[in-house]
Amino acid sequence: MIERNIRNICCIGAGFVGGPTMAVIAYKCPELIVNVLDINEKRIQNWNNKDLSKLPIYEDGLSEIIEKCRNKNLFFSNEVEKHIQKADMIFISVNTPTKTKGVGAGKASDLKWIEASARLISKYSKSGTIIVEKSTVPVKTAETIDTILRSSEENNNKDHIPKKFTVLSSPEFLSEGTAINDLLNPDRVLIGGEDDFAIKALVNIYNNWIDEEKIFTTDLWSSELSKLIANALLAQRISSINSFSALCENTDANIKDVSQAIGLDKRLGKYFLNAGPGFGGSCFKKDILNLIYICDFYGLKEVSEYWAKVLEINDWQQKRIVTTIVQKLFGTIHGKKLAIFGFAFKANTNDTRESPAINICKRLLEEGSCLSIYDPKVNASKIEEDLAVNQSKSINIEKDAGIWCSAKTINDAVKQADAIIILTEWEEFKNIDWEKIKKMMRSPSWLFDTRSMNDVKNVREKGFKVWSIGYGK
Ligand code: NAD
Ligand code: UDX
Repeated sequence: MIERNIRNICCIGAGFVGGPTMAVIAYKCPELIVNVLDINEKRIQNWNNKDLSKLPIYEDGLSEIIEKCRNKNLFFSNEVEKHIQKADMIFISVNTPTKTKGVGAGKASDLKWIEASARLISKYSKSGTIIVEKSTVPVKTAETIDTILRSSEENNNKDHIPKKFTVLSSPEFLSEGTAINDLLNPDRVLIGGEDDFAIKALVNIYNNWIDEEKIFTTDLWSSELSKLIANALLAQRISSINSFSALCENTDANIKDVSQAIGLDKRLGKYFLNAGPGFGGSCFKKDILNLIYICDFYGLKEVSEYWAKVLEINDWQQKRIVTTIVQKLFGTIHGKKLAIFGFAFKANTNDTRESPAINICKRLLEEGSCLSIYDPKVNASKIEEDLAVNQSKSINIEKDAGIWCSAKTINDAVKQADAIIILTEWEEFKNIDWEKIKKMMRSPSWLFDTRSMNDVKNVREKGFKVWSIGYGK
């Protein structure tokens, strides 16, 4: 058992989870020294940028916290070894993407960054350090970390007295776009572990701003698995509602009303029932693939097949959106200009990982259309990287095909376009002067609203032809 006074903490990984999570801990626990570490030099430079608009991550409320705490009790650094040495508690918040090669490729999580972190800790940290898994990991990863910590050749000293560590699981449940609010007011904090003193040390940190009733403690394996299952169930709701969006379109029903009607049932609840272009983000697909891999490993074929369907529906939803666009635009979009509204995987973030916009835009480009892409927070170089197609300077209608250019504003995007396709639910796509926009486009002018953000009747009255997801009339 470990009993320690925690003063100095560090986090390995300064990404979408490590950065905001540590910023909030530093903000709420001024007595702690918090070091956020990364091997990526550019990322750390951006976290340390005096110009707060250049932080590597956009989250509402994040820059204000960084301004208050940075270089007081919150530090961003590439000196990983040095800060690991000093830490009483180390959070691991590195990436755990799907493996692309070798055993389990396409499904299993790649734990090489977790393993590298464990080896660093084993080598440099002092005995008695508490290790907290923040990354989303397959069940039993804490055992792997513990084995590396204890058996690594690095964990040795001249007296051959092995260092002692305790591993806790504390998965992070924040959503991008609302990360700061989620961290300040979480539904719950989950802590799994076997060592009561170590658990208490982490509870004490969270207790600075979160009531004890909201801090749920359990064993390591239930904690690790709860995170994967929570994401799978959230994603399943989206695939379920998306499957019914297609049924609504065929039956003159309206998915928005259906979602509202069923969400009024307390047993179902109103969240995660918005039909759309399918779920994106770095977590849902990767975590379901990981669950599928784990179920297959334990011979639970029926269970893994069940969850594979959730991913299948997600891809199908994106394909059918492209097919609908092509069909509505007289069977061909070759040489036509399409204005794409939104590229981020959801509103209020600059993250594009697994964004439905990537698949949809790639397919539209393959059909020969020319895309003018506007997103308020995603820059053109990121879109270029995601589409793997270089950006063009301009679009020559009916002469060019399969090219894209970036637009600085909505007005810029729609000039001479045949259609607008809303892919991300940014607030500014709700309050559009459709009459004005119509005049800038070619006729017939189409709106494809994959987030059902706009009142169909109103936009039709302004002269548009409108297709809205799950809207049957
Ligand atoms: P990310 O890719 O944004 O950040 C991970 C960072 O870790 C990178 O900057 C990388 O350079 C760094 N890193 C990797 N190995 C390192 C090492 N040995 N030493 C120092 N730095 C190292 O990833 P993320 O979105 O922050 O996700 C991190 C984990 O949290 C993942 O397991 C993810 O599944 C989980 N998670 C993510 C979210 C989310 O919304 N993004 C939410 C909950 C949980
Ligand atoms: C998710 C989980 O919500 C969070 O708890 C976990 O920690 C990380 O993964 P995130 O991916 O950041 O968070 O965003 P989320 O709000 O869950 O949205 C994921 C995707 O689902 C987005 O593409 C979003 O547009 C889509 N979505 C969400 C819908 O299509 N409909 C909905 O009703 C809700």
